[in-house]
Amino acid sequence: MTLAPPKIPFGGDYNPEQWPRTVWDEDWWAFEKASIDTVTLGVFAWSFLQPDEDTYDFTRLDEIVAEAVAHDATIVLATATGAMPPWLAHRYPEVNRTDFEGRHHVYGQRHNFCPSSPVFRRLSVALAGRIAERYAGTDGLVAWHVGNEYGGACYCDHCAAAFRVWLRERYGTLERLNDAWNATFWSHLFSDWEEVVPPNALSEHWRGPHHTAFQGITLDYRRFMSDQLLACYRAEKDAIRAVDPVTPVTTNFMGIYQPIDYHRWAPHLDLASWDNYPPGMREHARMALAHDLMRGLKDGAPFWLMEQTPTITASRDVNPVKRPGVMRLWTWQAVAHGADAALFFQMRQSRGACEKYHGAVLDHAGRTDTRAFREVAGLGAELATLGDAVVGARTPARVALVFDWDSWWAVEMTDGFNRHVSYVQTVLQYYRALWQANVGVDVVPVTADLSGYDVVVAPLLHLLKGDVAARLEDVARRGGSVVSTFYAGRVDEDDNAYLMDAPGPLGALFGLRVDETDSAEPGVANPVTLRSPGSAADDGAASLVADAGLVFEVVVPQGAEVVGTYGSDFYAGTSAVTRNTFGSGDGWYVATGLDDAGVGWVVGQVLDRHRLVGPYADVPDLEVAVRERDGVRTAFLLHHGTGAVEVPAYTAGTDLLTGREVRRGDPLRLQPTDVVVLRERP
Ligand code: GLA
Ligand code: ZN
Repeated sequence: MTLAPPKIPFGGDYNPEQWPRTVWDEDWWAFEKASIDTVTLGVFAWSFLQPDEDTYDFTRLDEIVAEAVAHDATIVLATATGAMPPWLAHRYPEVNRTDFEGRHHVYGQRHNFCPSSPVFRRLSVALAGRIAERYAGTDGLVAWHVGNEYGGACYCDHCAAAFRVWLRERYGTLERLNDAWNATFWSHLFSDWEEVVPPNALSEHWRGPHHTAFQGITLDYRRFMSDQLLACYRAEKDAIRAVDPVTPVTTNFMGIYQPIDYHRWAPHLDLASWDNYPPGMREHARMALAHDLMRGLKDGAPFWLMEQTPTITASRDVNPVKRPGVMRLWTWQAVAHGADAALFFQMRQSRGACEKYHGAVLDHAGRTDTRAFREVAGLGAELATLGDAVVGARTPARVALVFDWDSWWAVEMTDGFNRHVSYVQTVLQYYRALWQANVGVDVVPVTADLSGYDVVVAPLLHLLKGDVAARLEDVARRGGSVVSTFYAGRVDEDDNAYLMDAPGPLGALFGLRVDETDSAEPGVANPVTLRSPGSAADDGAASLVADAGLVFEVVVPQGAEVVGTYGSDFYAGTSAVTRNTFGSGDGWYVATGLDDAGVGWVVGQVLDRHRLVGPYADVPDLEVAVRERDGVRTAFLLHHGTGAVEVPAYTAGTDLLTGREVRRGDPLRLQPTDVVVLRERP
């Protein structure tokens, strides 16, 4: 099931039910002006589609859909279960969540349903089914949008019961459960499934929702909750499939979002889509990582940018506007990383409630002469010019970065070694180094086929599942390089330590053992001297002295070559970074929290070895990302930096946005936020 639209769909969430009908004509007139051709309808429509349990009323949605059809729009139709109606919560309090502190909630907000509530399941599925029956086959309908930004967790009795069922399915016997949870610790041997309760503030947790006395229990609850929310999505999807066997079904993800293991969801999406709201204005590498992570969900197939704000968000303490050109730059970045749709939240600004100041294509006055509207319209025209040039195109990559929710959860919920270690910050450091080198990266799950990659980077690969260790060895054996860090290979899938030297099953690949693990407060640094492998250690010429922090593993090489050494403390002079020849390739181990310069150096060494460093790697914040279809490569040059740059064209080609022919070596001048879309000519 693939979508092959003639151009990149452009538009976004449209909730005209908030405004009188007279406004709708203005909307469509403005959409046309901005080349907006796509609307997502009905995300929060439940309370007007179903005013009470026994009444459905599609009059309003019929009108909204008819209007979209009349304007030849591409339609994404929601199942309207993004927020519950008040009557539902009032009549059936079980649909409301019980929070981490054990408080049973009453009606309010959104994303507030208990995923285990039979009533919620029955009524949400019924609504999805009705909507599918009524609108399947509608002209222009290209995708179904189930729910909205699934997330969070519930700790109610329904969830507790469902957790016990989930555990029985996973473990079969209490003996196996007790073993997985290492239950003899603190007298936790369970003798009846009914004794199991959700791990929350009233049971296993202390110091906030992450830290827990029993990591095995909490890890399983996270897996369970992710599956339970997935079950809600799947039930709605099944209801759609009963009447519409073909139209792609998706739900909007949130990128680097901890509570849900998107890899566990991926098989059930026909199309990955996500909402890009970066936490700051200078997060180019982080956004790129998120795009690549989302693209990796469907094995590299194009994804949809389902939401971004055209201007400002409203949910932060401080909500700065996107500077001129930034919305355009970020949209092209998404396309460069594989987005086949560019959609906004939302088309017209809300009149009231907490998003009334959230940016929109049209403001409260409905003006089309605002800067925001002009920029949207400008981008719309460009996307129309681009046509189908990259639709369906893939993103070639010789480098894989392994991202694993289990390791993320396990690293951040464990007591010891250092609470300040952030999985995402560490992964991002390694990703940023790859990004700066302008090398294509696939962000993949541990289960991915790694046989096509020259380099596999797996930071903080703490928890090992399945045959990942063997497959990483295979990468090195056939000549590739594998990079990992401190904390790697410590625990098995149950989060129990391997009864062997760290890094456990990865020890042979990295050719070392960890003797002990030291930690320090943030800001305390140990200088690490890095030297290129093969260079004489005593030639006096260090390649780089980087700072290391947080975690310092004291390593005993067992065949590995020392690449970096600690400069202080009782382990001064011992290995902090190593390279181990394995087969015809190698395994690189970074035993400490190197700073960005150090990580950049290590990643650079590895990329150099495989001649993978891309163009302009020495120009900060000038990103190059490539899409490829039928052997034709289209490169996106994205200037995130703050000053003008001039670089020689690394290839000949045609600038698809201006039509300009570019010869190899021609000077390319880029102002901040400039974008060049270069169809390469070999
Ligand atoms: C999310 C939601 C939207 C809206 C935006 C505002 O992405 O899906 O409904 O709330 O955030 O930023
Ligand atoms: Zn619940």
